[in-house]
Amino acid sequence: MILSIESSCDDSSIAITKIDDLKLIFHKKISQEAEHSSFGGVVPELAARLHAAALPNILEETKEYLPKLKAIAVTNEPGLSVTLIEGVMMAKALCLSLQIPLLPINHLKGHIYSLFIEQEAHFPLGVLLVSGGHTQILHVKNYDDITLLASTLDDSFGESFDKVAKMLNLGYPGGAVVESYAKNGEDRFNFTLPLRNAKNIAFSYSGLKNQTRLRIESFKDKITQKDKEDICASFQKTAISHIIYQLKKVFKNSDFKDFAVVGGASANEALRKELIELCSKFNITLHTAPFEFCSDNAAMIGRAAIEAYRLKRFADIDDILINPRTVF
Ligand code: KG4
Ligand code: ZN
Repeated sequence: MILSIESSCDDSSIAITKIDDLKLIFHKKISQEAEHSSFGGVVPELAARLHAAALPNILEETKEYLPKLKAIAVTNEPGLSVTLIEGVMMAKALCLSLQIPLLPINHLKGHIYSLFIEQEAHFPLGVLLVSGGHTQILHVKNYDDITLLASTLDDSFGESFDKVAKMLNLGYPGGAVVESYAKNGEDRFNFTLPLRNAKNIAFSYSGLKNQTRLRIESFKDKITQKDKEDICASFQKTAISHIIYQLKKVFKNSDFKDFAVVGGASANEALRKELIELCSKFNITLHTAPFEFCSDNAAMIGRAAIEAYRLKRFADIDDILINPRTVF
């Protein structure tokens, strides 16, 4: 069995995965959303202190499995340095005391392997990764061979939902609440599509965020529930159209048979609906992760760790290992 730890942002999570049949035999996650909500975003130092309290509590529940572990896996990149270190320190301590090897795992690879919880992976695969920290299109050939096809120039897709929610005083995280407001609203504001005339393939959300902010400010203090719903509907429609517009360019120049959407924001139903339509036009099969494994969790880190274990990607525990800003 492999014990995996995730603490790259605001979720403290530990999982245990069996190496031979990939079964997930333990998985627990403690989210810190309520603690960060009043700040409208994650406060790194607060997140670190909450991990320091939550991770040992979850670990306590895994005691019966500790003698059966063959390795400890931990998210070591990318993420917030002060929160990554909480998981990495715990992982190193466990490796030392149990005398077993350490597997550092890239968080983004974890999101890719969220597609294959309790099952073997299949590649090649095109992947749209949409989370709070990333908006990327990837070509994944295997665990090691991942090419970045497109990325965001500024804010990420999920982050822009969080910022719109903050501007409307809807709390943190903003994804689910903006999506639910959008369901009741209509596209009244007709925001401009980002990078419409760009030849290269990329994402940008800062312009759309500013358009949304100016529109919200134009209401001064007299903004109604209906206005908020329409703002969310207009924002979400443009944010998703931007993804679809850029993906079309990718699909025209590639021969993907399989495409997947992963990451916390892949839970967005309107995005999934648009992706299903686009993929069917290009005769591509769309894959999604189960909802419970879309947002950050240790099960996906454990699943990626099985691959790392098979490839013997063990690390020296004297190395620092933390790379907050790694990209593919
Ligand atoms: O993957 P994740 O849990 O953390 C990172 O690795 O960043 O993704 C969290 C992000 C947050 O920005 C959250 O607002 C966004 O995913 N998100 C959504 C939805 N659910 C979560 N964004 C849009 N629509 C949603 N339904
Ligand atoms: Zn994530």
